[in-house]
Amino acid sequence: MEKILIITGGSKGLGLGLAKEYHKNGYRVISISRSKAEKLYFEEQYQCDLSKSETIESVIKEIFSHLDKKNTQQLTLINNAGDLGTVNTLENLAPSEISYTIQVNLTAPLILSSQFIKLSKDWNCKKQIINISSGAAVNPYESWVMYCASKAGLDMMTKVVSKEQKELPNGVNIVSIYPGIVDTDMQEKARNTPKEHFKAVQRFIDFYEHGDLFSPKQVAQKIYLLDVEGELKNGRILDVRNV
Ligand SMILES: NC(=O)c1ccc[n+]([C@@H]2O[C@H](COP(=O)([O-])OP(=O)(O)OC[C@H]3O[C@@H](n4cnc5c(N)ncnc54)[C@H](OP(=O)(O)O)[C@@H]3O)[C@@H](O)[C@H]2O)c1
Repeated sequence: MEKILIITGGSKGLGLGLAKEYHKNGYRVISISRSKAEKLYFEEQYQCDLSKSETIESVIKEIFSHLDKKNTQQLTLINNAGDLGTVNTLENLAPSEISYTIQVNLTAPLILSSQFIKLSKDWNCKKQIINISSGAAVNPYESWVMYCASKAGLDMMTKVVSKEQKELPNGVNIVSIYPGIVDTDMQEKARNTPKEHFKAVQRFIDFYEHGDLFSPKQVAQKIYLLDVEGELKNGRILDVRNV
């Protein structure tokens, strides 16, 4: 029997860390991102720009066409791909920048989760969706309006879908996880933003210079442990630093 992980953004950063960790623990890992990981920790990598909503449905349907419900004991979707967006105050963002961040961080997880629930409806295995959210969902950072708003939306999706699914005989468990501060390209982008566009930039420079960042491997191991220890209970919103 297979354990299957479908993950967005498995090409680098935290997503690659998660792909490696689940792969190491016997999962068949399927990734969706624009680029491919340099090292193949998994064989199935689908290239898709998640800002293009119209292509997402066909990718997830294609993935499911290669899965075998009778041979699956665990099916997990991790909505990990994310984009910080243009770091600036709202009035300085172009309409295309506003919609891009919402598309990648919120619309894509909604479409993927919708299809995941629909396509696995009659699967009897354990099914779960893990949304990689952020403390930015509950902490307003000036110049991160699209990032904060999209992550808050992702958490609300977790809350609503957990209620929808909990009444069903074999519903999908859904959680949000805040991964803490992780040493990835996203952090680099945050600390390299000019101060005039991002008041809190020094805080992010300090995280890096003081060695406060977690490695993607550390955070991936923590998330995997929470998963196998049964901590990912339907509807939970967890911060890895507090569990
Ligand atoms: N790093 C942190 O401190 C931190 C803190 C809190 C939350 N998070 C969250 O953790 C998750 C992973 O972030 P990270 O830090 O690992 O960032 P990262 O290193 O920038 O990686 C982002 C991942 O998302 C994928 N992605 C981005 N835009 C995409 C698009 N349009 N279409 C398809 N895939 C796309 C990228 O793949 P391609 O470039 O190959 O497309 C990449 O694999 C995000 O949801 C982020 O919000 C990170």
